This record gives sequence, C-alpha cells and structure tokens, in this order.
Amino acid sequence: NPLDFSGVWRFRDLLPFPKDSDIVTIGEGQTILQQNDRLAKHVGMDAGRLFLQYEGLNPSGSFKDNGMTAASTHARMVGAKMTACASTGNTSASLAIYAGVSGLFQCVVFVGSGKIAYGKLSQALDYGATTLQIKGDFDDALARVREVCAEHPIYLCNSVNPFRLEGQKTIMFRVLEGLGWEVPDWIVVPGGNLGNSSAFGKAFMELKKLGLIDRIPRLAIINAAGAGTLDDLVNNKDLQWNDGRNDADIIRSYYASMDADDRRASTLASAIEINRPVNLVKALRALTICDGVVRSVVDQQIVDARALIAANGFGCEPASGATIAGLQQLREEGVIAASDRVACVLTGHQLKDPDLTVAYHTGDPEKQAEKLHPAGVHLTPHANS
Ligand code: F0G
Repeated sequence: NPLDFSGVWRFRDLLPFPKDSDIVTIGEGQTILQQNDRLAKHVGMDAGRLFLQYEGLNPSGSFKDNGMTAASTHARMVGAKMTACASTGNTSASLAIYAGVSGLFQCVVFVGSGKIAYGKLSQALDYGATTLQIKGDFDDALARVREVCAEHPIYLCNSVNPFRLEGQKTIMFRVLEGLGWEVPDWIVVPGGNLGNSSAFGKAFMELKKLGLIDRIPRLAIINAAGAGTLDDLVNNKDLQWNDGRNDADIIRSYYASMDADDRRASTLASAIEINRPVNLVKALRALTICDGVVRSVVDQQIVDARALIAANGFGCEPASGATIAGLQQLREEGVIAASDRVACVLTGHQLKDPDLTVAYHTGDPEKQAEKLHPAGVHLTPHANS
C-alpha cells in the first residue's frame, strides 16, 4: 500500500480523515530521527542525548509537506479547483508541488516583496504556481490572501487551515517512533507562524489522552530576535496575562503598539520573518500543554548555528539554525540540562537559501544582508497568470 510509505499517512489512525478518503500523497515524511553526538558535544550536551529530526528531506525540501498532503487531501474532499497560500517560500514550494503532481487544482501563491530565498521561489515557479508578489511583507501577503480566499472559492493552505496542522502532528509521531516511544525531555522548534508549535502541542495532548504516552515533553519555541512577537508576549512580565483581561485583548493591544511604531519583522532567517503569527493563540495553548519556554536568538547566532549543524553533517536553512542557537542559549541558562534528552526539528533544507551560505563563508553576513535579499524580487508573470 503506497500510503504505508508516507510518514504522514502510516499514522492515519491518529488523523481525522475518513477511512475512504482519496489521499493526495507524494511520499512525504520519510524522515527519521538521528542521533548526533558530535553536535551534542559542541552545545555542551552528553553523548546520546541530542537528536535531530531532519525535515529538509521531504519532497519539496521542508517540513511543510507533512501538512500540505493533509490540506491537499481535504481540498480534494471538498472539490476545490483552486488553492492558494501566502508564503515566506517553503509553503509556496510545498503547495505548488502538490498542485503540480496531483493535477487536481490550480495554485496561486502570494509572496512579500524581496524577502523570499531564491531556492524556494524557483520551486514555486518551476512547479507551475501562479506567483504574485505583494507589496509589503509576509504578514501583508497573508492578510491579502485571506481576503481573497474569503471572497472567492479558493482553498486556503496556510497554517490557519486546521487540516494542515493535523499532518504536521506526525513529525512528533516520528520523533517518538525514533525513540522507541520513549518521551524525550525537550522538543526544540523554530517559531514563525507557529503552526508546528501548535500542531506539536495538539499531538502530545492527544497521545497522552489516548494513553500512548505517559508524559508530555517540554517545548522550546525559538524566535528570531527580529521577529519575536511570541517571545515578547510570553516573556514580558509587564503584560500580566492573568490580571483578568483575556488573551485576545493583550494580543490586540500588542499589535496596536506594533502598528503605532510601524514595527516590521526583520531577520536573515527569512522563513520566520513574521510579526503576526496566525497560530499565536494555539501556540500559547501548546506552551501550557507542554510547560514550554520561548527564546529569541539574533541573526549572528542563527547563521553560526546553521553553519555548525552543517559542519556536523546536516545541511539546513537559517530558520532551522535558530533551533540549535536556541538550544545553546537554553543550555547556557541551565534550563536544558546536559543529560536531558532533546529532539530538535530541522525544518528546511540547506539548498533552500544557498546565497546566504555562500555569503556566510565568504564574508560578514550582516554586511551582506542587503545583497542577499534585495528589496524587490522582480517576477515575470507565469503563463497561467
Ligand atoms: N522553518 C522553516 C524552514 C519555515 O519555512 C517556516 C515557516 C518555519 C520554520 C516556521 O514554522 O510557521 O510552523 O512556526 N515558513 C512559512 C512559509 C511561514 O511560508 O513557508 P511555523
């Protein structure tokens, strides 16, 4: 059965899809948890305690395929003819490959101006997505695509789509599988739109309810410092979450102050350059479920960590580097102990953003930031558009 080869659908008993669904799959999720003692040593952890879940090995080169197979399956169930997403790059590459391979729907992707790594942009164009550049950043592009999908019969595939998150739960199922269903002490994941963080929290809550695990690991969500909404909100003691106002009010006033200062996300880890994560509230819930922590790391930490991971045999993109940078920070703080068992999610492949890698090895990445992400990627219209 081809579904047995999908790292998502072999867990279909744990996913809310009818038994007779026509699954849209391209063999995603064939990723495994790998122990890396050399990297463990570099970050001050004991041998045998650090594991990497390398999701860059998915068909489109990022973890997004875990979710997109589920969203595409649901799009097929409801008879969608057109799908869309906003993206910092990987979501668009993933949606485009599912649309292209299945031939079931047309696909439109919205990207912000100039902030998408070329590896990802080239995938969307190559797989045949109609690619629209929106004036503004990812947050603007997402707001726009949500409006468009509300007005037209277009199926939205961003992580506001709950079916996408269902597929992303399986990343944690595979982590547990890799550990013989022994629960690790920590899961470390980069936080952008916070879809993974939310999906992981839900996965562990459900597994515990089902009695498949006896405890829930702690979750560490790592923001880029230039895109640290969650970090700000969670670690800002002045906000007084429990003073009687509800979370929505706190978030609303935080966003209003962001608007007042015209504060925009800015990081070299373009995948997570997001200031208004759509899954913020779900991620807060995941943090409660998983007794989680949030940290942010600056670009220099991110690019250094990315290079360190690569030097230990795992090529990944900058956003994934945030994971190990965050782990290093939490080790230094003593929040994570050397003997803790830690699973880090490497979310995207090294070849997604080769410009940054070359710039890193040949000069100061901060100085080269402008060169790496020139304002205004000029797209020529696709034949479909
Ligand atoms: N890592 C990579 C490589 C990503 O592409 C993303 C998100 C994240 C981490 C953050 O994950 O949103 O679940 O917190 N990329 C989206 C995109 C936003 O459009 O490709 P999250």
